[in-house]
Amino acid sequence: MYKKLIGVVHNLPVRSGDAFSEASLDIYTQVENIEKALKQLGYPSVRIPFTRGVIDFIQRIREEKVEMVFNLCETLDEDPRFAGHPAAVLELLGIPFSGSPSMAIMLTTDKLVTKRLLKAMRIMTPNYLVYDNMSPFYPAVLRFPVIVKPRFEDASIGIDQESIFEDEIGLGKELEGFFNRFGTLLVEEYVAGREFNISIFGYPSPRVLPIAEMDFSGFPKELYHIAGYRAKWEKASFEYRNTSPSFPQELPHDLLKELEITGMVCFCLLMLRDYGRVDVRVDDLRQIHVLEVNANPCLSPDAGFAAAVQQAGMSYTEMVSQLVDFIERRSRNNVRQASHTS
Ligand SMILES: Nc1ncnc2c1ncn2[C@@H]1O[C@H](COP(=O)(O)OP(=O)(O)O)[C@@H](O)[C@H]1O
Ligand SMILES: [Mg+2]
Repeated sequence: MYKKLIGVVHNLPVRSGDAFSEASLDIYTQVENIEKALKQLGYPSVRIPFTRGVIDFIQRIREEKVEMVFNLCETLDEDPRFAGHPAAVLELLGIPFSGSPSMAIMLTTDKLVTKRLLKAMRIMTPNYLVYDNMSPFYPAVLRFPVIVKPRFEDASIGIDQESIFEDEIGLGKELEGFFNRFGTLLVEEYVAGREFNISIFGYPSPRVLPIAEMDFSGFPKELYHIAGYRAKWEKASFEYRNTSPSFPQELPHDLLKELEITGMVCFCLLMLRDYGRVDVRVDDLRQIHVLEVNANPCLSPDAGFAAAVQQAGMSYTEMVSQLVDFIERRSRNNVRQASHTS
C-alpha cells in the first residue's frame, strides 16, 4: 500500500552547554523517536528544520514532495513567542500536520493570554500580576508566597526554588533580574497542594488519558514542591532525583471526574487538537487551579505525555500510528487546516 512521505519538522536547538540546553536539545530525542516509529510503521520520512529562513523551508518541503508533517516545533530559533508560526506556515501551504492549529499554539504559548481566557470562562487559575517594567505593579494585592514565571516559556525554563518569594521585599529585589533574563513576567500566587498532569489524546473525539500526579514526597520541608527546571532536566540535581510522576490508583471519584472535565474544558477552550496536556494544582479546599495548558507537549518517550499513553495501554509506536491517522483523516476530509473546529 502506498504510504505518504512525512516531513518531521522541528526547531533548531541551542548548542550543548548553552543555557537551558537540556530542555532545548530534547527536540532531537523527539525527532529520533518519531522517525523510528514511522519507520516501524512503514512510512518514509524526511527531517526538515524550521527556522526564520522560511523560504528555504518552503523550498525543501516542495523539493522533497512532503505530503504530511509531524510538527514538533517548540520555538522558532529559540524564541518561544513564535512557537505557533511553523504551524501557521503549514496552514498557508495547505499541508496537513499533526497536533494543534497555529491559533492554539500561539494562545497557549502566551501564559498571560491563556490566563485571561481561563478567567473569562471562570476556570480557576492562580491570581497574578504582569510585570513588564513599565505598567503599574502593586504586589500587595497578591497573597504571598508568589511564584515568578516568564510569560513566554515552557519546560520550566526560568522556574525553580529561587522563583518563589515570601514577601514583597524579596520579590522587589529580584524582579528586575528576572525581567532582564526572560522579558515580561507573571507573578502568580503560589498554590500549595497536589499537582496533576491531565493528558488528552484523540481526533476528532479527544479523551482523557490516565491522570499523573507529581510525587514530591522526597522533598525536605524547606523546599517548595514544584517541578522546576532542575527537577525536569538536571539529572544530577536533588530535585530531579526526587520528583517523579505517578499514576494514583485511588483518587476520589469526584476529584477524578472534576480533573477530567477541567482538562477537557481547557483543551476545547484553547482549541487544541490531537494531543495536549493541562497542568493543575488542587488546593486544600479541593479546588482545581489551572497552571497552564500545553498544546503539542513534548513527545519524548520519557516525558509525561508518553507515560500517560503507556499507562493507557498504548505503545509509543501505536501513539504515532494514531497521530498519523488523525492527520490522514483531516486530509481525506479535506478539512481546512486553519480551522479550529477541525
Ligand atoms: N501558581 C503556582 N503555584 C504552585 N506551583 C506552581 C505555580 N505555577 C507553576 N508552578 C510550578 O512550576 C512548574 C512549572 O510551571 P508551569 O506553569 O507548568 O510552566 P512550564 O510551561 O514551564 O511547565 C509547575 O509544574 C509547578 O510545579
Ligand atoms: Mg508545565
